[in-house]
Amino acid sequence: VSRFKMSIRSSSVSVAAAPMLTKLQQDCATPLPVLRNVAASMSDDIRAGLAVDGGSDLKMILSYVDSLPTGDEKGLFYALDLGGTNFRVLRVELGGKDKRVIAIESDQVSIPQELMSATSEELFDFIASALANFAHKGGNFSGNKGEIGFTFSFPVKQTSIDSGILIKWTKGFAVSGTAGKDVVACLNEAMDRKGIDMRVSALVNDTVATLAGARYWDDDVMVAVILGTGTNACYVERMDCIPKLQGEFSPSRRTIVNLEWGAFSKGLPLTVFDRDMDAASINPGEQIFEKTISGMYLGEIARRALLHMAEEGSLFGKSVPEKLSMPFVLGTPDLSTMQQDSTEDLHTVGSVLYNVAGVESNLISRKIVLEVCDTIVKRAARLAGAGIVGILQKIEEDTKDAIFGKRTVVAMDGGLYERYPQYRRYLKEAVAELLGPETSQNIVIEHSKDGSGIGAALLAATNSKYG
Ligand code: GLC
Repeated sequence: VSRFKMSIRSSSVSVAAAPMLTKLQQDCATPLPVLRNVAASMSDDIRAGLAVDGGSDLKMILSYVDSLPTGDEKGLFYALDLGGTNFRVLRVELGGKDKRVIAIESDQVSIPQELMSATSEELFDFIASALANFAHKGGNFSGNKGEIGFTFSFPVKQTSIDSGILIKWTKGFAVSGTAGKDVVACLNEAMDRKGIDMRVSALVNDTVATLAGARYWDDDVMVAVILGTGTNACYVERMDCIPKLQGEFSPSRRTIVNLEWGAFSKGLPLTVFDRDMDAASINPGEQIFEKTISGMYLGEIARRALLHMAEEGSLFGKSVPEKLSMPFVLGTPDLSTMQQDSTEDLHTVGSVLYNVAGVESNLISRKIVLEVCDTIVKRAARLAGAGIVGILQKIEEDTKDAIFGKRTVVAMDGGLYERYPQYRRYLKEAVAELLGPETSQNIVIEHSKDGSGIGAALLAATNSKYG
């Protein structure tokens, strides 16, 4: 009897929810013309943002990093990394050309949820304390004279290599009293309160640190992309191609520019679920590209689609699982775990759904869930790929030294890229589709694991105050 009942329920489920899945797939479709348009808009927005401040959605922030690591860097340097779900402190011993990285030690703590909406003092005190503990463990008892590369992964208007004003928080941070302030000064004040005598030599975005870290090993690195909680990209630009710098520069002078591409918004195929999620967010109307392609949001978009299918299409039977109504119960790591399921009865999908969202499922509903995950992830990864092509095309078109004819490396990092195989595959496929087989052969999209930690330490070294 129960088998009979199940098959009836299954078929009624598939009938009711199937058109909703089809609609979702249509709304999220990213055929080549859509990708081409996104890539071209990205190039246009890059140019407009380089022309004048406020010229486009893309801030095109000048990083003040205009000399890249050479390999000669030597000494002991610290790196702080704030920007996602974790906070990290590193100590890196650099040994010059032959020895390179002699030793690296690090500590990682997850950022307590309440700190994300605390006061600026509370947040920076937390960072300074973690730094003090770490320096102490390494035998630097008074926390003396250490030089820090501070990776602060939010939009910052840099005023020099070691100072910059927070424009706004992103990625769910809502700390009060930091926007409009120099974040290095905030950190220095906290270090004073904790009695630590260390100084920040370089303030950098995580994309910039990743580019520097990857470039240390490979001279062909031109672009770095983060796909983690949030998303962003930076690249090496010729100074004479940056009108807002307002100077005469020789074509050989280069600098790293941080796009803040999370704020990009043109030509994206969006659904009602994206719009609703945006409206309910703490920064409606902002960071639309980020909300469509990065780790903080993919699980939530899928949850909204599934909830709709449960309510209107009886995806999980007559009743709607209560927990499925809770924003952010489904995380992007859950989507990845489900998509790695290779069991015949989709056992893992079933247990993730049950454990995370209290959802009872059968084989048919599990299959639909997987389709939903795949649809959201495929759109995200392909759009990220189009963004990368937009950057490459801009460089190719505006710089005389063509990059498409030679090996060019795009350094990738971030938990989403690292831990979602389907995402990586879809992203690479989109880049290859857009560039064609010949050109894409020369473009190496490479995971630069933890490049940003070493990169920040390297930039502290390059910009050392003690010489
Ligand atoms: C957000 C931040 C940006 C950072 C990115 C990746 O988009 O605004 O600065 O690089 O996340 O962490």
